[in-house]
Amino acid sequence: MVIQENISLQPFNTFGIPATARYLVRITSQAELEQVIQHPVYRNNRRFILGGGSNVLFTKNFDGLVMKVEIMGKSLVEETTESILVTAGAGEPWHPFVMSCVEQSLGGIENLSLIPGTVGAAPIQNIGAYGVELKQVIAYVDGIDLDAGVSRRFTRDECQFEYRDSVFKHTLKEKFLISSITLRLMKKNHPMVTHYGAIKEVLNEKKIDHPTIRDVSNAVIAIRRSKLPDPTLLGNAGSFFKNPVVDVNLARSIQDKYPSAPVYPIDNQFVKMAAGWLIEQCGWKGKKIGRVGVHDQQALVLVNFGGANGEEIHQLATEIQQSVLQKFGITLMMEVNIL
Ligand code: EPU
Repeated sequence: MVIQENISLQPFNTFGIPATARYLVRITSQAELEQVIQHPVYRNNRRFILGGGSNVLFTKNFDGLVMKVEIMGKSLVEETTESILVTAGAGEPWHPFVMSCVEQSLGGIENLSLIPGTVGAAPIQNIGAYGVELKQVIAYVDGIDLDAGVSRRFTRDECQFEYRDSVFKHTLKEKFLISSITLRLMKKNHPMVTHYGAIKEVLNEKKIDHPTIRDVSNAVIAIRRSKLPDPTLLGNAGSFFKNPVVDVNLARSIQDKYPSAPVYPIDNQFVKMAAGWLIEQCGWKGKKIGRVGVHDQQALVLVNFGGANGEEIHQLATEIQQSVLQKFGITLMMEVNIL
């Protein structure tokens, strides 16, 4: 176990922000983590747990200990004729893990193809795309309670999953290090989720009536490639804001004025609106301000065109929030972790 000092975080965040960490330690096993917990640098500094760095914005240097989770490994836990329990180490990159499941025709996460980041970060914000959320397939999450120094397992219910949310973002923030997740995936009779408009379009275009797990995965990959910038080519962290939950009366008044405004029902009192649509209506889509801007295919995505610092992205995000509030009376919440 080596604690490095004054390390650049630029390769470790998909925005490509050149912040540094006062200390950085790579954690490749539970034994290594136990050593870290005993170390004075751990005890005397604030901490940040880093996965793939695809949902974080460093607005300044981090004056503490960054714990980079690199616990690897994939294993089969248990199998029935219908389903299978698979465990993956928190440091495994998410998309290759999805691909290995798709290749084995294991159903459940094909709609979550091509999401950047690591396996261990996935439950924190309950990643979701094209009609599927991780919570639908999670069996349990294992990790270490950093305060008590003991292992703990969270069942799906205990994870308190909501839209882009879980217990790991609240009471357990920086207090619980996820070491692995275990998913229940389907070996047969897997109900494919293809109702999402864009997926239907791709499958229709290809004249696929009975899609396989691989067909759905391929469709999702094609949609993501066409709409979302590749973080290895253009710095970004996917959706920067959450889709807001809005009072049904406010949404109705917006729809009176803009009949095409996308609105998703929740209950009698609230609906969800598309943050990307709101931002686009405020004229931000495709806008470039200095070294930062708003993606031209998906207004929810803020980008670093090269050389930007985190403060510039944060400033842009704040201006977008203000203009959406002014025009629509809706406060957008940032989805990305701001440090
Ligand atoms: N829209 C616009 N303008 C835009 C973007 C979107 O008008 O610039 C409209 C679209 O036309 C559509 C609606 O907004 O009617 C929804 O757009 P889209 O299907 O692209 O999905 P989203 O709600 O913008 C969410 C997730 C994405 C996920 C997609 C697909 C959040 C915050 N974002 O985006 O997740 O890939 O659905 O399921 O929930 C991520 O979290 O990083 C991410 C990319």
